[in-house]
Amino acid sequence: MLLFKNARVVDYISITDKKQDILINAGEILAISENIETEVSKTIDCEGLVAIPGLFDMHVHARDPGQTHKEDLLTCAEAAAAGGVTGFLCMPNTEPVIDSAETIKYIAEKAKDCKVKIYTSCAITKGQKGKELCDFAVLAKAGAVAVTDDGRPVRSAQLMGEAMIAANDLGLAIISHCEDLDIACGGAMNAGIVSIELGVRGIHRVSENIITSREIDLARDLYGKVHIAHVSTKEAVAKIRAAKAENINVTCETAPHYFALTEEALRTRDADYRMNPPLRLQKDADAIIAAIQDKTIDCIITDHAPHSPEEKADFRTAPNGVIGLETSLAATLTFLYHTGKINLFDIVRLMCVNPRKILGIDGGKLAVGESADITLFDPDEEWHVEPDKFKSKSRNSCFKNMKLKGRVKYTIVDGEIVYGG
Ligand code: DOR
Repeated sequence: MLLFKNARVVDYISITDKKQDILINAGEILAISENIETEVSKTIDCEGLVAIPGLFDMHVHARDPGQTHKEDLLTCAEAAAAGGVTGFLCMPNTEPVIDSAETIKYIAEKAKDCKVKIYTSCAITKGQKGKELCDFAVLAKAGAVAVTDDGRPVRSAQLMGEAMIAANDLGLAIISHCEDLDIACGGAMNAGIVSIELGVRGIHRVSENIITSREIDLARDLYGKVHIAHVSTKEAVAKIRAAKAENINVTCETAPHYFALTEEALRTRDADYRMNPPLRLQKDADAIIAAIQDKTIDCIITDHAPHSPEEKADFRTAPNGVIGLETSLAATLTFLYHTGKINLFDIVRLMCVNPRKILGIDGGKLAVGESADITLFDPDEEWHVEPDKFKSKSRNSCFKNMKLKGRVKYTIVDGEIVYGG
């Protein structure tokens, strides 16, 4: 038995915010209350720490199979544990693409040796080529919980509509990467003043906005449900807000870099600030924060996208993507909590409860009888982000060298301490 003493327990579902002890036995929470006195194998003093349900990141590129020089499931899980993330959803843009029962089984097998809980999303179209739908029934049976062509949009609205119906019927979440490839045209950053000044091809915001509108229209007309990935623009946020007001079944996510940074970071010509969608303008970051506050945005994810230093070396040719598992909670605390924009209940809702709810996965609450998946953090500890110290195989963090406030101290999965101590 494990006893965590005197943590500030914050749980959104039971609306708890109290200093309590948490007793864990056989992977489950046995008791949560004040002054638990019992014989245990280990007691951990949690004075000054906050205990929340384990974070769940529903947007992670684990790169396994096929690109394991960037990351593999084991290192990705190590990075997750270090970031307080007790479960995550793998994106399917691997090599081969996750579009078969065999690849799902490969991941499930390897996940057994990983420190955190790993779930799989599958491609919408075979090979993510945008031509032919995968057999969702087969993929669901093999264990997929979501479908997405993330990294690429589904170019055909007809095919996306068919996918929405098929996924909804099977209870699979369908996640849309909203990008018009003709408009984006291989750009390296947001299209705007900075891209013009740098002489770099830009990705126009309309690329994201137009496909966000399309998905909302499809969901409206098909009485469907869709989740919009990595929202970055003011207009996309406004469209999703209006859709929700119309009771259209749309949910969405954003990542810390979209509320913490802007295209100004690209002036360094450092490819570690390149991702897709790109960093936008201050008005976009402000709109993202307002949408987090009014619940238009349901989740904060990382879009953890490892790339090697060699791949990131040349600004113009580097692939898009940044890692985020080891900084997401700290960045959210720094830019949203310590600035008074959101409270700890919001963090639990955005990073623990809603992602699981959208994917139909159990957990996200601290209560007796629940699996002991818990994140303990010091909300006030300041630290410098040094990517060389990360558990991830890659170093492409856009929070590198920043001072963040809030640090994960322990991560517990099924009652085991997988990080800290
Ligand atoms: O920046 C990104 N990187 N955006 C994506 O959609 C894909 C991802 C990747 O796989 O590297």
